[in-house]
Amino acid sequence: MTKDRATSPDRIQVIALASLQGGSGKTTTAISLAAGLARKGKKVLLVDIDPLAFSSRFLLPQFKQLPKEETIYAALYIGKPLPIHAAGLANLSLVPSHPVIVSDEQLTRTPDSDHPKKLLKLKSELDKIKQHFDFVFIDTPSVLDWLTLNALATADMIIVPFIPSYSAPSTFTLMSEGIKTAKQINPNLAAIGYLAVTSNSSAIVQPFDQKLLPRSARSQLLTTSIPFDDAINEANLSHQDVFNFRPNSKAASAYLKLINELFAL
Ligand SMILES: Nc1ncnc2c1ncn2[C@@H]1O[C@H](COP(=O)(O)OP(=O)(O)O)[C@@H](O)[C@H]1O
Ligand SMILES: [Mg+2]
Repeated sequence: MTKDRATSPDRIQVIALASLQGGSGKTTTAISLAAGLARKGKKVLLVDIDPLAFSSRFLLPQFKQLPKEETIYAALYIGKPLPIHAAGLANLSLVPSHPVIVSDEQLTRTPDSDHPKKLLKLKSELDKIKQHFDFVFIDTPSVLDWLTLNALATADMIIVPFIPSYSAPSTFTLMSEGIKTAKQINPNLAAIGYLAVTSNSSAIVQPFDQKLLPRSARSQLLTTSIPFDDAINEANLSHQDVFNFRPNSKAASAYLKLINELFAL
């Protein structure tokens, strides 16, 4: 990690995957975008801030043996540097999560004077190392807690994956609250992108009516959508990213298209 990857301030470098719809593809999208960019030669860091730690289990075979001090716990609970692990794919690094980090902090929706500091713990450590990477992805839990808000508080862009079903809009209202809180403490937040992911083949509205999105989000709907594809589940089971597992699959093409839509490489 010798080369300084410092970038211009207006460039999207830190991307949080956040959505209050469980199973909407946050982890899959974080892993796929990270792996896709790493395969294109970009230096990528994936930070897992979800206590369920699915990204960490996927990318790090030795995850279960890791002491908590070698995970995100170090930065969030004891003010230590973020522990960076090689993730088994060239150019891809991981800060693993740990089940010991919990949503145990009481948060009201309006941050009081104490909250900003609590919500900037990840940012304060990430700012020290992010210049070594071209892109940083943050995978979050499906709740709006202090962990997710820490991710939103340090992101240049928030991608909100959602299953295009009738239940999606109910989660957007609370998400907007989180984004509003983040904007108060994160001057770098430059873009929000809603990403339709058909991670579940039932209850899908086809074609998805943009009117289901809140008015403010309609202009933020990404052009690319991710189709349902069993290659994703099969790739997960074999602990491979979809580009390696089935490069010609619908999902691999969709994630490549998304990379082209999001990042001018
Ligand atoms: N495009 C897709 N096609 C089929 N299954 C998918 C797709 N995207 C995700 N999945 C599956 O849906 C489940 C939930 O996805 P995940 O990325 O873990 O969601 P989240 O992190 O938002 O909870 C996983 O089992 C995953 O393999
Ligand atoms: Mg997840």
